[in-house]
Amino acid sequence: MNAAIISMGSISSERTVEEMKKVFDSVDHLNIVDLEVSMLGTSEEILYGGKPLKQYDCIYAKGSGRFANLLRAVTTVLGPECYTPIRPGAFTIGHDKLLAHLKFQVAKVPMPRTWVVSTAEAAKKILKKAPYPVVMKVPSGTHGKGVMLAESYESASSMVDALALLRQPFLIQEYVETGGTDIRAFVLGDSVVAAMKRVALPDEKRANLHAGGAGRRTELDDRTEHIAVQAAKAVGAEICGVDILQGPKGPVVIEVNLSPGIQGISKATGINVGEKIAKFLFERTKETLAERKGEAMKELVSEAKQIITKLDFRNERILLPGIITKLTKFSEQEDVVMEANKGQLKIKNFLEFAR
Ligand SMILES: Nc1ncnc2c1ncn2[C@@H]1O[C@H](COP(=O)(O)OP(=O)(O)O)[C@@H](O)[C@H]1O
Ligand SMILES: [Mg+2]
Repeated sequence: MNAAIISMGSISSERTVEEMKKVFDSVDHLNIVDLEVSMLGTSEEILYGGKPLKQYDCIYAKGSGRFANLLRAVTTVLGPECYTPIRPGAFTIGHDKLLAHLKFQVAKVPMPRTWVVSTAEAAKKILKKAPYPVVMKVPSGTHGKGVMLAESYESASSMVDALALLRQPFLIQEYVETGGTDIRAFVLGDSVVAAMKRVALPDEKRANLHAGGAGRRTELDDRTEHIAVQAAKAVGAEICGVDILQGPKGPVVIEVNLSPGIQGISKATGINVGEKIAKFLFERTKETLAERKGEAMKELVSEAKQIITKLDFRNERILLPGIITKLTKFSEQEDVVMEANKGQLKIKNFLEFAR
């Protein structure tokens, strides 16, 4: 089986490719910027470096939010032909905190209380009643940038005036007290294969490794593991990093990362996450190919309406084989139209014929 990774060329992707080469027959590392989607109205095609993309059994596509729409388009076109661990719609959902929280809400995944507003006035109404501290987020932020903490209405109010300048909806969220920690759970399919607890720097509330946070291995209880998998499924990703806060009311999900780094978590946990991804992709590709082969066979059988046989003549009459009679679903009561010429006979239901 052959596979490809579509990425922005990160070290994490490079490591994953190396591990995938150990299990797949061949693996290509494709750069996202060299992809093109060609839509012709009647058909569509993906080009790589200007040439039609090779046929793959598995394509693991990832990239930053800037490429969310392109990744959605590419996986939509390639999805029916190969196994893709991230559903097309997930790219636009996962890179937008507003849509992601909506999915968590619909799937009943526990999350902090969240409001979405577009104007400073609407935000201030909520902020007047909200308990402090309160968190505010830009929908497309990553690495902890775009996440703000306000200790009082006064500071929240001036942040909101700045946020409103962006002229886009933003999130106001209940602050979950965790002592400056969060959990990064690495989800593959139905399980969490590695998890780390990240601790924010002193004087910092964001525990992202990119914000200077430090990670160490942690074992998740069944409930936390369950909500991590639930969040991944809600978004439509079989491979992702889920951020969880262990608050006083239990675990809550704050984010699903579709392009999670693997070095930090591998180092913190001692688990080779790249190897786990490679083996997972291999097994899921095998399963998907088998499923699709089964479906294709079924279709072939249900479509089989032709048989090759000798005709059964009763004097001048032709007796049709039982299977053919059954397939037509003709009944004795209905009228049919027979159309015959040399070497051919067609029998059609009269009403169908008249249509
Ligand atoms: N509601 C919250 N309560 C407490 N801390 C939070 C909350 N939301 C985010 N944080 C902190 O900020 C970090 C970044 O938030 P997150 O929503 O994961 O955005 P990003 O995409 O920037 O990583 C989290 O890892 C966590 O440490
Ligand atoms: Mg995060």
